[in-house]
Amino acid sequence: MLSLQLSQTASRAAMRCLPGDGQKRRQCAILLATVAIVTTLVASTPARAADPAAGKALSESCTGCHGGDGISETPKTPSLAGQPDEFTQWQLIYFRSGARKDQAMQPIAESLEANDIRNLGAYFASLPPPAAPSAQDPRVDAGAKLAAEHRCPFCHGEHYEGNKAVARLAGQREDYLYKALSDFKSGARVGSGVASMADVVYSLQDDDLKLLAHYMAIQP
Ligand code: HEC
Ligand code: HEC
Repeated sequence: MLSLQLSQTASRAAMRCLPGDGQKRRQCAILLATVAIVTTLVASTPARAADPAAGKALSESCTGCHGGDGISETPKTPSLAGQPDEFTQWQLIYFRSGARKDQAMQPIAESLEANDIRNLGAYFASLPPPAAPSAQDPRVDAGAKLAAEHRCPFCHGEHYEGNKAVARLAGQREDYLYKALSDFKSGARVGSGVASMADVVYSLQDDDLKLLAHYMAIQP
């Protein structure tokens, strides 16, 4: 019954998403992504306690790209160690539903069951986060200023450690952070559909994104 109502909501949303101006298209993309996620969640099996050991076993198929112990040495590929449990789970759900697009991740996420996602979330959250490289250059002060102006700590935490569905940024790879910010800016990444990041990057220029990525990457 619930799934019938949901699919009716989805088709009504899709009908309202006929070609329109840019703003309307963006709202539609967000709406459709949200509908897809809610549908996925409703379809999931009831929650069981997560098993980090099972997550560790499963993570062997992730190390080729995300590195041993969740510390990535691959360009444009994020470290997963120390990410909040919920954040990892949501991103896997977004990849699985197609709300977040990536050629490498979508097929992998499609092969995961709800329990696998819970176990992987718990496992990566249990790992020590990456050690941040130290840097002292004028760009650091400029990055700090931008971060304060745009209230990054308000959602990402005082030390950029992340919280619930909000990502840890501290110590993340700089090239990946820059890619993520650019993808939010171009609309390539919609993700949560709450549009929080799209609103954040709206007024930022490419150079600002580079400064912010640099600043977050060196936070301990
Ligand atoms: C072939 C390489 C590859 C493999 C194997 C792989 N990933 Fe990924 N993963 C990526 C790339 C590349 C991204 C970044 C996508 C983007 O730029 O949006 C990513 C992103 C992610 C993210 C989002 C993290 C963030 O900070 O936004 C999660 C979570 C994730 N992967 C989990 C996994 C898990 C769990 C496995 C194993 C079951 C896995 N990945 C296997 C390449 C891979
Ligand atoms: C209103 C809350 C909010 C604010 C303010 C905010 N963020 Fe975010 N941010 C989020 C959420 C929520 C996510 C996860 C998005 C998703 O699920 O797709 C995120 C994701 C990100 C990511 C992707 C991380 C990853 O591992 O994939 C980056 C990078 C990021 N934010 C940087 C920033 C920076 C830099 C600022 C300040 C200029 C900022 N955020 C301000 C809520 C916020």
